This record gives sequence, C-alpha cells and structure tokens, in this order.
Amino acid sequence: VQPSQTGLAQPAEERLSAQDFNRIRQLAYQRFGLNLSPAKEVLVSSRVLKLLREENIPSFAEYWQRIETDSSGESLIALVNALTTNFTSFMREPKHFEFLRQQVLPTIPPGEPVRIWSAACSSGEEPYSIAMSMLAAGRTPKLVASDISTRAMGKAEKGVYQADETGGVPPDWLGRYFLRGHGNSAGLMKVRPEVHGAVQFRRFNLLSDPLPAERFHVIFCRNVMIYFDAPTKSRVVTRLAQTLLPGGYLFIGHSESLLGVPNPLEYVEPAIYRWMPSSKPSGRGK
Ligand SMILES: C[S@@+](CC[C@H](N)C(=O)[O-])C[C@H]1O[C@@H](n2cnc3c(N)ncnc32)[C@H](O)[C@@H]1O
Repeated sequence: VQPSQTGLAQPAEERLSAQDFNRIRQLAYQRFGLNLSPAKEVLVSSRVLKLLREENIPSFAEYWQRIETDSSGESLIALVNALTTNFTSFMREPKHFEFLRQQVLPTIPPGEPVRIWSAACSSGEEPYSIAMSMLAAGRTPKLVASDISTRAMGKAEKGVYQADETGGVPPDWLGRYFLRGHGNSAGLMKVRPEVHGAVQFRRFNLLSDPLPAERFHVIFCRNVMIYFDAPTKSRVVTRLAQTLLPGGYLFIGHSESLLGVPNPLEYVEPAIYRWMPSSKPSGRGK
C-alpha cells in the first residue's frame, strides 16, 4: 500500500538526506549503542520514513523537532523499535543449552534456583527456552528477561506464538510446556504458566540503565553486540560482568566475538566467557 492510498500525509522526502541519516545515526549510537553503518542507509531511511507515515508527520524536520522536545521518551522508543532487528527463535544456538545443562547445572546446588538473565530477550523465545530447559532438567529457573524494544517485549510478555514459530522446540516439550489454542486461537501456542511465571520482564537499555540488583549464574546476551562497536561492547560486557556471581558465565552469539574488546571475563570456549574474580582481564585472546 502506497502512503497516498492510506490517507496519511506523505513525507516530502522519498529517502532521508545524508545529513538526516547522519543525525539518526549519531542519535542511535549515543542513546542505544547501535552502530548503523553507511551500508544500512537505505534500510534506515525506509524504516524511519515508514515511522513518519505511521505517525502522520509531514517532514523529517518536524520529526526531529519532536524527538528533541519529547520528554516522555515515546518518540525515542518508537525509533528504537523501528531500527532494531528482533529476529530470534526457540532453542537458538543449542550449544549454549547443552553447556548450561552439562557444565553449569552441576555447579549449582539442587535446591537453589538457577538465576539467569536474558539481556536482549527480543520477543521471548530465548528466556522461555531457558526456562523450559531448566524445568526439563528438574531445576527451578528464576529468570530476568529484558530488551530495549517495547514492541518485542510486548510479544515476550504475552508468551503467545504462531505454531510455526515454535519449530525449534523439542516435540515432547510442545505438549508439556505449551497450551494449544482452539477455536479463534487455533494455530496459536501459549507458554504454560509454570514457564511464564519463571520469567520477570523488564525494559532495559544495555548501555545506560541502572543494573539489576540481582546476581546471576548465567547471562545470555546473544546477537545484540553485533550492532555495537568495540568501545560499546567493552562497556556493555564490563557492566554485565558486575551482575555475575563469582564463576558465573556470559553467553554471546556464536557469530560475535570479544576479540580486541577489553573486558574482565575469562574466555572459556567460542561464545562463552566466565567471571573469575581473581583472573586477569581478557579481550586479547579469542
Ligand atoms: C537479534 S535480537 C536477539 C534476540 C536473542 N538474544 C537471540 O539471540 O535470539 C537483538 C535484540 O537486541 C535488542 N537491543 C538492541 N540494542 C539494545 C540495547 N541497547 N539494549 C537492550 N537491547 C537492545 C533488540 O531490540 C533486539 O530485540
């Protein structure tokens, strides 16, 4: 549907000017740590202009003024919702789940809750996968799940997925941990209360929000630092490390690396780092 067909005002620009793209780029970097390379110009342009159409804002100049004067933060939230990529899936990167079961659980006394933070949880598939894995292992999960995107968090908190989004879930878990929709809800799968109740959702900007008071056995911060440059990664990992219990682990995406990123964690294996209070700072090794 073309904007003119929607009855909404159409922004004069078809594409952001280089100057306007740079403004968005600087703002996204300063406020969210997002590193929007010049190669993303077309994508960013189209997402921002779509936002203008949806909000019925006639020009970028007006949009920018709104961003600068909006003290509610709503405009910035809408912008980050438009700029972030929320792709995720159940049981994504299964090696981390194996490591959790085989290496981490044996170090936590059986009666103790397993405390895990899914720090860029997107639409919830990651924290619910962790909760299901812990329940299946007979443990009590206690999770915090957070993201900067209110749109993604909205879906996460609902815990309702299309059946074809649950592809990564082992078949016997579908009946055990999901409720199948009927009638109007046919084709939908809703996580059961025991899974949902194990997760506490919060909106959280990895760069700047005050850290949670809890301490965690494991933090999943996967497939988000791909957008961050080395200084931002260093800052984020150093912040996250402060919330790990001694011996606690940080999992990052398998396509991400902390190579050349100063941080206080010890390299364990690809995409897994550990907080050993007596160890030397890493970032030079792998
Ligand atoms: C590609 S998803 C990854 C989801 C999940 N961790 C996984 O690996 O499947 C990246 C998520 O990072 C979030 N994000 C981006 N910048 C962020 C920031 N500064 N603070 C918190 N979350 C952020 C996005 O909103 C998005 O939901």
